[in-house]
Order: sequence, then structure tokens, then C-alpha cells
Amino acid sequence: MFPEVLPEISDSDLEHFFQIMLSQYGMDFRGYATSSLKRRLGTVIKRYGLTGMAVLNQRLVTNPDYIDYFINEITVSTTELFRDPSAWIALRSQGLPLVQHRPQLRIWHVGASTGEEVLSMAILLKETGLYEKAEIFATDIDRRSLEQARRAVYPLRVYKGYEQNFIQVFPHLSLEKYAHVEVNQVFFDPSLLDRVRFLQHNIVTEGTFGEFEVILCRNLLIYFTPALQNQVVTRLVDSLTEGGLLMIGTKESLFWCESARRLSPVNEVERIYRKRSSP
Ligand SMILES: C[S@@+](CC[C@H](N)C(=O)[O-])C[C@H]1O[C@@H](n2cnc3c(N)ncnc32)[C@H](O)[C@@H]1O
Repeated sequence: MFPEVLPEISDSDLEHFFQIMLSQYGMDFRGYATSSLKRRLGTVIKRYGLTGMAVLNQRLVTNPDYIDYFINEITVSTTELFRDPSAWIALRSQGLPLVQHRPQLRIWHVGASTGEEVLSMAILLKETGLYEKAEIFATDIDRRSLEQARRAVYPLRVYKGYEQNFIQVFPHLSLEKYAHVEVNQVFFDPSLLDRVRFLQHNIVTEGTFGEFEVILCRNLLIYFTPALQNQVVTRLVDSLTEGGLLMIGTKESLFWCESARRLSPVNEVERIYRKRSSP
């Protein structure tokens, strides 16, 4: 297979793109890793048969209705139910026991995408008897992904993979307890979302909204430059209660983040951390 040939995007076109997104839509993409951002912009240009980035920029200026589709196209929404099952096993056995005695469990999924991570958390909380004291916030920049997350309905082709992950975390249960297949779709039990609020929110440009016992920000930092990772992680650590948990993606690192000093590892391999008490 030959690598896909994508249109070239000059630095000045990219600069113009940043300005449009910032001034017209209040979205700041300057801290996204340039190579992957250019690749995704190139894919959009190619898909629409546009002659180049200048035309895409023009479309963004003149056609604000396009923005939700555009954000959906340039963000990477890849996700799974119980993605990296061993991380969820560690969260259950090592993470949650550290906070489960609290009167309330406020949980924030940053970059929740199409909702599978939230459903995983809801199932975990139901199975550990913690769901009733949870209040779950699920945020993402991508309005269209959040629409799917609210529906909790997925194409049948994902079922097998999701079931395999589920069985690793809950070997004695069947996914049928929480999801059923109808025609060519998978429907999750809507009661899993009773305590979930979905909100469009940009972690780069918007403040946080309270304190949380658990924050998941998985497979999002990887798209940011080290400087932006540092800024976002500081924001997340500030939003944790003392002893609260932060879980990032298993292929991500806090190497660039000064606020990692304010965390101690719960499980370094699975990237689960705990906020230290203030001295
Ligand atoms: C690869 S998905 C990760 C989904 C899920 N957390 C997981 O690990 O399976 C990354 C998500 O981050 C979202 N995202 C990208 N930039 C964002 C931002 N500035 N603020 C909030 N969400 C953002 C994307 O829309 C996408 O849904």
C-alpha cells in the first residue's frame, strides 16, 4: 500500500486557519501538533475535492453552518467501550477504592467523543455499587460526536470488539446485561446515562466548572504540543479534589507537565494518578 498523497498546506495558510478559527469561532488550534493537524486538514481538502487550504479557509469564513461538520471531520473521534481493558481493571481495583468512600463522586470525561468511555464508566460504577452517588460530566469540542453519545446507539460492526473488551473487565458477565442488538445497531441501556450530562466544551479555551473526584482525559493530550499538554494538565489537576484521580491514555505521558509534581502514581503503567494533599 502506498501512503495517501495529501495536499500540501503552507505555514501561512495554516496561520490564516488559526486566525479564522479563533476570531470567528473562538476555537484555538495553535497548540495542536502541526503534523497531525495538517494531515487531517489535508484529508478534508481531498474528501471535498477542494483545490487547497485557501479554499477551505474561505469556506470556513463564509459558511458558519459548516463548522459542526468541520470539527467532526478534523477531530479524531476513535474510541471503544472499555478501551485498554487493563486500565479499567486497574481503575476498579486500585483507583476507585481510593475515592469510593466519598459522599459524592463527581466524574469528568474530557474529550468524551461518541460516549463509549462514559458508558464504560457507568457500567463500572453500576457493578461496584457506586453509580447512585455519581454525577458524571462528559465534554467534547465536537457537537456531532456528543449527539451520538447522547443516543448511545452504535453500528453493529463495533459489537464484537466491545464485547471482547467487556469480557476482559467482567469475565463473569455478559454485555447483554447492558446492551442489545436490534437489526444492525447496538442499543445501550439508556439508564446508564441517567446521571450523565453531556456538554460541548473546549478544554483549551474554556475554564473548568467545579471540582471532581475523578477526571479522565484519555487519548486527547496526544494531539497537543508539549506546551499545551502542560497547560491543560494544570487545568485538570486544579480541578481535582485532594486525593482525586486523573486517568490519561496508556500511550500518553505527563513528562512535559509541571503539575505532575502535584500527582502521585496509582498505577504508572495504566496512567492512573492521584492528586497529593497540599503540604
Ligand atoms: C481520540 S478521542 C478520545 C476519546 C476517548 N477519551 C477515548 O480515549 O477513547 C479524542 C476526543 O477529543 C476531542 N477533542 C479534541 N480537541 C478537544 C478540545 N480542545 N476540547 C475538548 N475535546 C477535544 C475530540 O473531538 C475527540 O472526540
